[in-house]
Amino acid sequence: MNYKTNYMSNYHIKHLEEYYQVYRKSIREPENFWEEVAEEHFMWRKKWDNVLSWDFSKPDVKWFEGAKLNITENCIDRHLVTRGEKTAILFEPNNPDEAAEHITYNQLYERVCKFANVLKAEGIKKGDRVCIYVPMIPELAISVLACARIGAIHSVVFAGFSSKALSTRINDSDCKMVITSDGSYRGSKAIDLKGIVDEALENCSGVKSVLVAKRIHSDIEMKAGRDKWLQPLLDEASSDCKAEIMDAEDPLFILYTSGSTGMPKGMVHTTAGYMVYTAYTFKNAFQYKENDVYWCTADIGWITGHSYIVYGPLLNGATTVMFEGVPHYPDFGRFWEIIEKHKVNQFYTAPTAIRALAKQGNELVDKYDLTSLKVLGSVGEPINEEAWHWYNDNIGKKKSPIIDTWWQTETGGIMISPIPFVTPTKPTYATLPFIGIQPCLMDENGNELKGNQVDGRLCIKFPWPSIARTIWGNHQRYKDTYFSAFENKYFTGDGALRDEVGYYRITGRVDDVIIVSGHNLGTAPIEDAINEHPAVAESAIVGFPHDVKGNALYGFVILKDFGETRVHDNLRNEINQIITEHVGPIAKLDKIQFTSGLPKTRSGKIMRRILRKIACKDISNLGDTSTLLNPEVVQEIIDNAL
Ligand code: WT7
Repeated sequence: MNYKTNYMSNYHIKHLEEYYQVYRKSIREPENFWEEVAEEHFMWRKKWDNVLSWDFSKPDVKWFEGAKLNITENCIDRHLVTRGEKTAILFEPNNPDEAAEHITYNQLYERVCKFANVLKAEGIKKGDRVCIYVPMIPELAISVLACARIGAIHSVVFAGFSSKALSTRINDSDCKMVITSDGSYRGSKAIDLKGIVDEALENCSGVKSVLVAKRIHSDIEMKAGRDKWLQPLLDEASSDCKAEIMDAEDPLFILYTSGSTGMPKGMVHTTAGYMVYTAYTFKNAFQYKENDVYWCTADIGWITGHSYIVYGPLLNGATTVMFEGVPHYPDFGRFWEIIEKHKVNQFYTAPTAIRALAKQGNELVDKYDLTSLKVLGSVGEPINEEAWHWYNDNIGKKKSPIIDTWWQTETGGIMISPIPFVTPTKPTYATLPFIGIQPCLMDENGNELKGNQVDGRLCIKFPWPSIARTIWGNHQRYKDTYFSAFENKYFTGDGALRDEVGYYRITGRVDDVIIVSGHNLGTAPIEDAINEHPAVAESAIVGFPHDVKGNALYGFVILKDFGETRVHDNLRNEINQIITEHVGPIAKLDKIQFTSGLPKTRSGKIMRRILRKIACKDISNLGDTSTLLNPEVVQEIIDNAL
C-alpha cells in the first residue's frame, strides 16, 4: 500500500501564467495530465490499465479502467498517520447553545467502520442501493462513507423532500434499506422525518430495513421487523471494517436531479474519476491549505454537499464544517457568528442565501469578526451584480476573492470558476474553464460559435473524470437528454456568453428547468402534482424573477369548471398543499392565475415562452402568436396577469 501524505503540493496553481500552462497541458494531453494527478495523489489498490476511453455517441466514458481502490481509504485511512487527531468534520448544531462536535480523522474512521459493519450485518452487500434520508447531522456524512466503505451505492434524498418524492426515488433505484432519523431540527421547527419515511414506505415493497438515528428524541413508532434504532447496533459493532475493493468504474452513488420532463433522473457517478476530480477541484478552487477550516453551507442531499462537504474536503484531509441549521435562526447573523466562532477560511454558499442576508442590512454582519475569511464561493444559480458586490464588499471586505462556480449534478465537480488569487474576478462571470474542461458555445443550428463575444448554448467537448456515466436504469434517456442536441458534445441545458477575454457568464437554463433558491425544479412534476387536484383540468408553470429566490414559480391553471364557486384563495392554498405533498415545500407557487385556456401550438404543445413573458411583465414583444391554436387566450391571460 502506498501512503502519500504530501499529495497535491505540485498541483496547487499559484498564478495566472501557471493556470494557462497547466490548462493547455490538460487539453493537449488530457490522459497524461490526469494520469499524473491520479498517480501522485491517491491510494490505489491497483493502478489502471487504461486512463480514458470514450465515445459520446453511445455515450460511454471510462476513466482509469482496471484500477482498484476504495474511496474511503482515500478519504480517511490515508490520513490517519499524519492527521489522526485533526478535525475532519466539525458539526455545528441547529441550536447555537448546543456544543459543536469535532470529529477527528481517527474518530471518523471508527464511526464509519462501525456503521459499515452494521450495514453488513443487516445484509447490505456491494452493489446494493441504500437510500439515505437523514438531516444535516454527522450520521448523514458517516452513512454516506459507510456505504462507500462496503461498496453499497448510496442514494441520498434531501430530507426536505416529501414522502411521495422519497418513495419515487426509493423505487426507481430499488433501494433495499432506508437510513433516517427520528426527526430533524430546522430553525425553531422540529420535523417528523420518520413519519414521512413511514408514509413513503407504504409504496416501497423492496425496502427490508430502516435504520433510525436519534436526533430529536421524539416518541415515534417503530415497525417491528423493519425498523431498528441505530445507536445500539453501532455500540455492538466492531470498529474496524476492511474496505471493499472497487473497480474504478463501479458506481459510487446515485443522486436524483429534476429534468424538464418526466421522472427525476438518477445520475450515476462512479468511483475513481469522481474521486480524482473532486479532490483536485476542491484543492484548487478553494486554495485549501493545511489547517484551514472550510465551510460549505449546502445540504449533503445535493451534489454540492456530496462533492464539497464530504468527498472533496476529506480527500484532501481538510476540516469540513457541517451545519445543521438555517441562515436565519436564531437570527440572520447565524452564518457570520459561525464564521467567527470556527474561524472559517473558505466559505461556500448560494446566491439566494446571499440575497436574503443582504436584505437584512449590515448590522448583523458588523457584529462579527470575519477576518479569518480568505475565499468566498457561490454556486447554484447565476449571482446577480448587486448580490456579488454586497458579498464582495461586506463579507469579503474586498480582499477575499469570490469564486462563482458553475457546475451541475451531472458534472460531479466544478467546471467553470475562477481560481482565487489567480484568476481576476468579474461580477456575474464564472470566468474560465477549470483545468481539463473544454467548454464551447453552440448556436441553434448546431454550429460551434468560435471566437469571443458570442453567446449560445453551453456544451462540453471532451470528457472529464467526474462526468455522470448514465441515468440509473435508463441509458437511452441519458443519451437523449445530454448527447443528442449537439453531435459529439455534452449539452448542459444552460445558455452562456463568452466575453472579449474568454470569460464565461452563465445566463440561465434554456430548457424547462427553473432554478428557485438554487434548487433545480423541473416543471413537469409540479404540473403533474397540480393536476391531481380534483378541480384542476390543466396547468403550466413558468419562472419569474424574484429578488431573493432568483426565480419564483408562476402557475397558470385551468379549472375544470371555470365558474368554480369556491373562493380562489382556498384553491390556491390547496394547490400549494398538493405541491408540498408531491414535491416538497420548495416547489410552492408564488403566484397562481386561473385562466380559461393556455396558449398552445397546433401540435398541442404549451407555448411557455409566451407565459414566461407575461409572468415577467415583459409583454412588449410576445413574438408571433398567430400560429397558435387559440391566440385569443393570450389577451385574456395578459388582462388577468398577477
Ligand atoms: C444548474 C445545475 C452545482 C451544484 C448546485 C446545482 C445552475 C449552478 C451556477 C452558477 C449560474 C449556475 C445551472 C446548472 N447553476 N451553478 N455558478 N452560475 N448558474 O446543481 O441542481 O444540478 O443544478 O444550476 O443552471 O445547469 P444542480
